[in-house]
Amino acid sequence: MADRLVEPLRFPPDFLWGTATAGHQIEGGNVHSDWWAWEQEGLIKDGTRSGRACDYWNRYAEDHALMQEHGHNVFRLGVEWARIEPAPGEIDRDAVARYRAILEDLHARRIAVCLTLNHWVLPQWFAAAGGWLAADALRRWESFVRLIARELGDLVDLWVTLNEPMVPVLAGYLSGYFPPNRRSPLQTAGVFRRLLEAHAAAYHVVHELVPRAPAGGPTMVGFAGAYQLVEPFHEGGLWRALERPLAAIIARVSFDAWDRSILSGRVAAPFGFGQRIDGLRDSVDWIGVNYYTRISALLGPGSLSNVQSGGFNAPPGIELNQMGWQNYPPGFHAVLMAAKRNFGRPIYITENGCADPGDEMRRRYLVTHWAQMHRAMRDGCDVRGYMLWSFIDNFEWREGYAKQLGIIAMDHTDPDLRRVPRDSAFLLRDVIAAGALTPEIVDKYAPTAFAGGKP
Ligand code: FCB
Repeated sequence: MADRLVEPLRFPPDFLWGTATAGHQIEGGNVHSDWWAWEQEGLIKDGTRSGRACDYWNRYAEDHALMQEHGHNVFRLGVEWARIEPAPGEIDRDAVARYRAILEDLHARRIAVCLTLNHWVLPQWFAAAGGWLAADALRRWESFVRLIARELGDLVDLWVTLNEPMVPVLAGYLSGYFPPNRRSPLQTAGVFRRLLEAHAAAYHVVHELVPRAPAGGPTMVGFAGAYQLVEPFHEGGLWRALERPLAAIIARVSFDAWDRSILSGRVAAPFGFGQRIDGLRDSVDWIGVNYYTRISALLGPGSLSNVQSGGFNAPPGIELNQMGWQNYPPGFHAVLMAAKRNFGRPIYITENGCADPGDEMRRRYLVTHWAQMHRAMRDGCDVRGYMLWSFIDNFEWREGYAKQLGIIAMDHTDPDLRRVPRDSAFLLRDVIAAGALTPEIVDKYAPTAFAGGKP
């Protein structure tokens, strides 16, 4: 790429632009959930708890107004199963009504709804009964999905069955980093299979109950995968050759086995031996791509556990964000092209963003990633929308409130939880208004982003 952007990078007029969130991370008061219980054990790194989070549950209209003011036409949010079904079979009607009001408010503002059915968090009663591994887990899950499809289905433009299913599989059951803190390869394989079944069940239930999207088009159901680029650490030579197989293993275990299973309808190695799952094959109408970073596979002691916690082996000269993740824009193009090759379905970016309290790095990150997304579109990738992670600073799982990923700043200790747009929010607004990333916008918000021919 050139030293600076010379031509505007135009996006289609019907492109969806907005942000992404998850219920537990922003709503507040998700008291019947497994994560809530887990937080009380003091396991969050900075000692915080989700607590009232961003109080989105009560302040959604104010947040939607801000999205509208900034020209967003899509918002990704989740429903919290624990809130809707606090005890087995007991439905909290007020909670359902509140979700309806939230989605209606978005529609009234012409903001399309991308709804995640499960973003890792489970009801406490479900977790206590064995979680995903319990004998009747699928029956319970299916009846929850049925309820959502019936009650809210007419308001959902894009369905995400599961968010990054490999995270609960690996972090919950292999490395013991997320609830339920297991370290069991056998259970890891079991939950992998269960989540494939859960995805397939949700896919078919939604199609059965929701014949078309609110705008009249086909019902669109998919999942959101964590697609990081995995590459050997070394640029060349013998080391690179040796690291290649390690990179392939990491890619296979972290997302590729899931994709292969969806494409073939069978449980892929190393989590299974090709067992067939009913209704799984091709159970995706679109692909949700979450892309943040590159993982560099470095051979050496502890390399696998490093990767599990985020792959902090960065080659020299690569900038790291507040999460310790590499900023690697070309990886975005690479994972998009791979998603196109593998699935041949429409793609929506369901997450992309940068943890940076100062915001200067985030602006560079965003413009360089948008340029790579545009490049992938030029190369034939059918990308139809982009949801930036995240709308607002929020509860970042084990990291607590210590990481700032929002384009709107919020201090969780502020009694008023004031929303303060960062320059990134205005950057996104201006790109949406222009329908393009223009040289003027880059000069204004991130003048050094393309300096030195950096991609
Ligand atoms: C993704 C999660 C999302 C958020 C970002 C930073 O893996 O889906 O909830 O934590 O990472």
